[in-house]
Amino acid sequence: MSNGRLQGKVAVITGGASGIGAATARRFRAEGAEVVIADVQADLGNKLAADTGAVFQKLDVSDEAQWKALMAFVEKRFGRLDIMFNNAGILGGGKSIESMDLATWNRVTAINQTGVMLGCQHAIALMGKNPGGSSGSIINTASTTSFAGLANDIAYSTTKGAVRILTKSVAAWCVRNKTNIRCNSIHPGPIETPIFAQAVPPGTDLAPVMQVVGSMSPSGRMGKPEEVAALVTFLASDEAPYINGSEVLIDGATMAVHPGP
Ligand SMILES: NC(=O)c1ccc[n+]([C@@H]2O[C@H](COP(=O)([O-])OP(=O)(O)OC[C@H]3O[C@@H](n4cnc5c(N)ncnc54)[C@H](O)[C@@H]3O)[C@@H](O)[C@H]2O)c1
Repeated sequence: MSNGRLQGKVAVITGGASGIGAATARRFRAEGAEVVIADVQADLGNKLAADTGAVFQKLDVSDEAQWKALMAFVEKRFGRLDIMFNNAGILGGGKSIESMDLATWNRVTAINQTGVMLGCQHAIALMGKNPGGSSGSIINTASTTSFAGLANDIAYSTTKGAVRILTKSVAAWCVRNKTNIRCNSIHPGPIETPIFAQAVPPGTDLAPVMQVVGSMSPSGRMGKPEEVAALVTFLASDEAPYINGSEVLIDGATMAVHPGP
């Protein structure tokens, strides 16, 4: 699918080498955007960049110095930034409130929460310098776990809850300061991506795991990364100018259906 909906725009996608980020990089390219795939996985990222005509830049979202270097690269290469997709994230090590250790907590927070804050901050600085005047769209990947806690992954659900209100706080600042920059969060339910490999021992066949996860959704299946990419494309485009500070579920009705009869 491609209609040139992002023609002339420049996008940065964190976690762009895999899963939802990779599907979005493909879709953004098909829609005419220049895309910078920013990820810790250089091999995958470089390959996707070569396949799609995107550019790969290594980035650990928890490292502020690397954010500065990335934005300096984007400014020099493209002279603007229109779309920031803060999508990189990890699972939280399967720890409950009882078993949590501080090293795990701090690592998950640094990537899933601080990484998104840094992405918003650095994106706003560059979007504010856009040649036609300040403008842009920021999309932050949260989760259905922003709304319902995981008993056995407290760091994940806590950081995803934080991304929800961080997004609104950013949108509030942007609108008050007349930046013409929007900031929205997306809240996927179970999506078919490699992230689930983090929840099982290395080498485990993921297919049965995915089937179990999919069967927990009232839709009876997992969502596809391309379905999330379509939503992100809409939020990133000029078709969504009045959607700002919003939280958009994309979960096959997972959060809508009461477990009762
Ligand atoms: N798959 C799901 O069911 C699901 C549901 C809700 C939310 N999410 C969220 O969607 C986002 C994308 O996940 P995915 O499912 O596509 O998984 P994925 O593992 O396929 O992709 C995540 C990407 O983030 C990158 N990444 C991890 N740590 C990083 C860091 N410090 N700096 C830069 N990049 C880093 C990984 O290398 C990977 O390419 C995550 O934020 C995840 O929490 C996923």
